[in-house]
Amino acid sequence: MSILIKTPAEIEKMRIAGKLAADVLEMIAPYVVAGVSTNELDKICHDYMVYDQDTIPAPLNYKGFPKSICTSVNHQVCHGVPCDKKLKNGDIINIDITVIKNGYHGDTSKMFCIGSVTPFAKRLVNITREALFLSIEQIKPGNHFGDIGYVIQKYAHKHRYSVVEDFCGHGVGKEFHEPPHVMHHGKSGTGDEFKPGMIFTIEPMLNIGKRQTKILKDGWTAITKDRSLSAQWEHTILVTEIGYEILTLRAEEC
Ligand code: MF3
Ligand code: CO
Ligand code: CO
Repeated sequence: MSILIKTPAEIEKMRIAGKLAADVLEMIAPYVVAGVSTNELDKICHDYMVYDQDTIPAPLNYKGFPKSICTSVNHQVCHGVPCDKKLKNGDIINIDITVIKNGYHGDTSKMFCIGSVTPFAKRLVNITREALFLSIEQIKPGNHFGDIGYVIQKYAHKHRYSVVEDFCGHGVGKEFHEPPHVMHHGKSGTGDEFKPGMIFTIEPMLNIGKRQTKILKDGWTAITKDRSLSAQWEHTILVTEIGYEILTLRAEEC
């Protein structure tokens, strides 16, 4: 299947889903502190999605995923399964939210720093966010998917970080994961051209150490093989006639 072009009516539904996913990240922020367990964060998000937003938490039961959000702490790269372990001062955590509203998905994640984190961790978190935004700035009709990976990789390597290649961004819409695979590494000018109406995520994962990952026995949680720190940020993006629109933008980013 090739990359879907969304109709104006679908784009409107994706705007709504994207905004709601962003709202969950804003809602949960004050709870992301030392002493809270990731299971508690999962429950607060689950109840907010289901009872306040009337959205469906897309991860819950997705291919057997047991929780409503993903929480990836420190050397966990992505798809961390919430558990009873409490966050502690100095941790960094990615919270990844995907909601379904009126049949359409909004998918976004951000990093939170718990208390005072080391300058090393803080720098990884910031550079990863900057890599995401540099790649978003490449998006306009005529540019190519390869441009995304190219700028992320270039920026990461300049700062001596590695780019995870085992997980990608993805088309998003009626399905959680649609074509194409959006690589976070690659060559500029390669791959398909951006066309107005395409909607996809970019969700780079950068590591302080090597890029290789492995999956824990829970079948989901990906960690860095060398146990080095990892960070990830994700937005859902619409290609417009003149550039892009970030469907999951939060107030703090405007
Ligand atoms: N939200 C993740 C992504 O960005 C996917 C999570 S799949 C799950 O693509 F099953 F782990 F929830
Ligand atoms: Co995603
Ligand atoms: Co996500």
